[in-house]
Amino acid sequence: MTKKVFALSLSSLFLLPAISVAADDKAAAARNLVDTKCSVCHPAEKPLSANKNFEGWTSTVKRMQAKNPANLNDADAEAIIKYLAAVRGVK
Ligand code: HEC
Repeated sequence: MTKKVFALSLSSLFLLPAISVAADDKAAAARNLVDTKCSVCHPAEKPLSANKNFEGWTSTVKRMQAKNPANLNDADAEAIIKYLAAVRGVK
């Protein structure tokens, strides 16, 4: 029994870094989307120097998406919204 618990906690130790690496990959991919998709009409600094809450980023990104729908699909828009709300939220 104790061996099992020990083995379980040991395996979760190995799982944890894998989970945070996956989160880092997601953030890097979203950052890449901002750099490529949000720099078509203005520099990517425009969003990267603003602060908004999740609702604010949702409406801004959807407004940007509507300006040129072919530039940004819904899945990418969602990833960008989550990323910007996380790194450019309201302090
Ligand atoms: C099709 C061209 C175009 C693309 C692509 C675009 N923008 Fe914009 N953006 C504009 C224009 C034009 C303005 C200024 C007028 C306005 O605010 O609507 C602007 C203004 C902004 C502003 C300042 C105004 C505000 O509401 O805070 C932010 C922030 C912004 N864009 C973020 C983004 C993000 C994030 C992306 C990528 C998802 C993006 N933009 C992609 C054209 C674009």
